Amino acid sequence: MPSMNPATPAWNPNSWRDCPIRQVPSYPDLTKLQDMEARLGKYPPLVFAGEARRLKAQLALASEGKAFVLQGGDCAESFSDFTANIIRDTFRVLLQMSVVLTFGASLPVVKMGRMAGQFAKPRSSDTETVGDVTLPSYRGDIINGPEFSPASRIPDPARMEFGYFQSASTLNLLRAFSSGGYADLHEVHRWNLDFAKRSPLADKYQDLAGRIDETLRFMAACGMTSTTQRDMRETDFYISHEALLLPYEQALARVDSTTGDWYGCSAHFLWIGDRTRQAEGAHVEFLRGLENPLGMKVGPTQDPDDLLKLLDILNPRNEAGRITLISRMGADKVATKLPPLVRAVQRSGHKVVWLSDPMHGNTISTSSKVKTRNFDSILQEVRGFFDIHEAEGTWAGGVHVEMTGQDVTECIGGARRLSEADLGDRYETFCDPRLNAEQSLELAFLVAEELKTRRVPVVTALAAQ
Ligand code: PEP
Ligand code: CO
Repeated sequence: MPSMNPATPAWNPNSWRDCPIRQVPSYPDLTKLQDMEARLGKYPPLVFAGEARRLKAQLALASEGKAFVLQGGDCAESFSDFTANIIRDTFRVLLQMSVVLTFGASLPVVKMGRMAGQFAKPRSSDTETVGDVTLPSYRGDIINGPEFSPASRIPDPARMEFGYFQSASTLNLLRAFSSGGYADLHEVHRWNLDFAKRSPLADKYQDLAGRIDETLRFMAACGMTSTTQRDMRETDFYISHEALLLPYEQALARVDSTTGDWYGCSAHFLWIGDRTRQAEGAHVEFLRGLENPLGMKVGPTQDPDDLLKLLDILNPRNEAGRITLISRMGADKVATKLPPLVRAVQRSGHKVVWLSDPMHGNTISTSSKVKTRNFDSILQEVRGFFDIHEAEGTWAGGVHVEMTGQDVTECIGGARRLSEADLGDRYETFCDPRLNAEQSLELAFLVAEELKTRRVPVVTALAAQ
């Protein structure tokens, strides 16, 4: 069983400030930073603690093999690409993926966007050099600007307030879409039928889309339609981001009046990145004190014993749904790096959800130095992830992807066989390359097939779309 550490020092919202911290921007004006923290501290929370608890309960089901998780969205949201269409299109593709996955898994799919707050980025280098000019790296729109100029790269606390309002506005639209009729299962399925018809792999996808169609007709014949069933016209959709910028996260932490517990109220689900998951570090210290469901990225450098230590710190009561481990090994490493971690967690008795992030271990640079990812490597990592969980007798709980609803050309491969030469057409990301709408759906269809062939359905849950 997980060990309880009675010597764990007391937590408070400021205790992270005494810990070593990585990936920290150097704000030139600390008074301005403190003023902004105080101002944000008075603003309304973006999410309600009860919603975070509901998500935790759904993730607890995923930790027991009774739900599948889909987490996706931009690598970095941007202040300049802030439009209703972009939000709607990403949301729509996530819903489309979710219907396909629900059918594949015969289980409810828990949906989380990397949306409404995914603004802060960890960087491998503190500086960027172009020609003979060296400037601070771009760290995400909530910190500094992407333009390569000295003024834009200075971290500015005023950006936090803009990030807060953009998150509020994005979340408002997502809530309206989730409950206002846009998420109607029949509509989402119609979009999928349309996708399946237009895809170069039409034959392959039409079969699965046709089976979903048949199921919906059968349900309608039994009296279950979106008019009679609220679950078929509305959906739960949660927001999540990497909790990297701790002054912002602390300013949005609140005590829940019903339980007296602290919650991070910038999003329902917060995760710790692969670069900031040190047991003694500031990010782990801050997040351990919040009651939200938490994610943690685990990359190829993660040591199994350190992982167990982190789980003891972050989830001392071994609460199901509290921790989601997001594996991001790379297609070539997953088979060797993931099994020791899965086994160690399994042996320790820690309850976790395992997700596969097949994006971050598979970033490559083309001959002309453009960052991209190959669809085949992405698929290979997901398949490897499923193989490992099958072999270990554990549940492959879901996928975490960088994607967009736009028709971008950032990742190569997929049914349209995007090549390196196509990347210049519509390469729009501010950070890592994303799957476009078609590639995202293709991935969902392929994962659904894996789920169907590997698993005996436990419950039929199309209605829980
Ligand atoms: C990310 O999810 O965008 C990211 C930076 O991932 P990681 O921490 O796994 O490198
Ligand atoms: Co990324």
